[in-house]
Amino acid sequence: MIKVEGLYHSYSNDENYAVKNANFEIPKGEIFGFLGPSGAGKSTTQGILTGLLQLQKGNVNVAGYDVKNISQKMFNKIGMSFEQSNVYSKLTAKENLDFYRKLFDGQTREPADLLKLVGLDGKENVRAGEFSKGMKHRLTFARSMINNPELWFLDEPTTGLDPAIASEIKDIIRKENNNGVTVFLTTHNMFIADELCNRVAFIVDGEIKLIDSPKNLKLQYGEQLVDVEFRKNGTVVKETFSTIKEEEKQRLQKVILDYEIQSMHTKEATLEEIFIKVTGRGLV
Ligand SMILES: Nc1ncnc2c1ncn2[C@@H]1O[C@H](COP(=O)(O)OP(=O)(O)O)[C@@H](O)[C@H]1O
Ligand SMILES: [Mg+2]
Repeated sequence: MIKVEGLYHSYSNDENYAVKNANFEIPKGEIFGFLGPSGAGKSTTQGILTGLLQLQKGNVNVAGYDVKNISQKMFNKIGMSFEQSNVYSKLTAKENLDFYRKLFDGQTREPADLLKLVGLDGKENVRAGEFSKGMKHRLTFARSMINNPELWFLDEPTTGLDPAIASEIKDIIRKENNNGVTVFLTTHNMFIADELCNRVAFIVDGEIKLIDSPKNLKLQYGEQLVDVEFRKNGTVVKETFSTIKEEEKQRLQKVILDYEIQSMHTKEATLEEIFIKVTGRGLV
């Protein structure tokens, strides 16, 4: 569904690259996560793939179209939701969707259904300018589905939303994917990446460091950790030990012998811990 080879992008038209030699392929039906901290080059990559930014160097094929000479037909097949909500504030929620609907050739979805799906039912006739940030975000998200896209680009789809709404958005993404929609999702939130994505790319400073499934990554990089709570001099102390590193194993044995253990739980490495281990950087 997407094929990217040797992609570079510089905003200053020099060697200062926001995206540096990116290579990846996304098969039909996958949820592919672009995971990296702010400034890593995620939105830039989405911008090039969706024709928002001019392709400077590399080969990019999206939904069967070469992005070098973008065909208007490509836009019938893709949906895009941006980091910043860009809705028309003077139009109502329904008018925003009705307007967008007319831009596409193929079959489109009913605005009322989409507004219901994102929890904006009852707000059809309210001007988008009166919406809260989260509501504008949901309207942008709904709009990105109006043309029934085969390929859906979502830039930070849950950032800034309260947890209940974020969870609904996640469910919608999962459901659309079950109906065959391929998803390119950028995020700096490792929980989203872990829960939703079949595969993730770790991106830092414009470079993809690794691509794999969260499950494989945990098997490959995740060492077993144990959280131990024990009583020391009258107070409860909590420490995490690796069961692989020899010195930590020995310390753990000593703690078990010397102190009264309150609790002990094994813990799987999180995607964020693996991200830090692989890239040397955090996700913030
Ligand atoms: N329009 C722009 N002009 C100049 N530099 C930009 C522009 N947009 C992004 N950048 C820079 O490109 C790099 C990647 O940004 P971006 O793709 O937005 O990262 P992310 O989406 O991962 O946070 C950052 O260093 C950012 O400052
Ligand atoms: Mg971004």
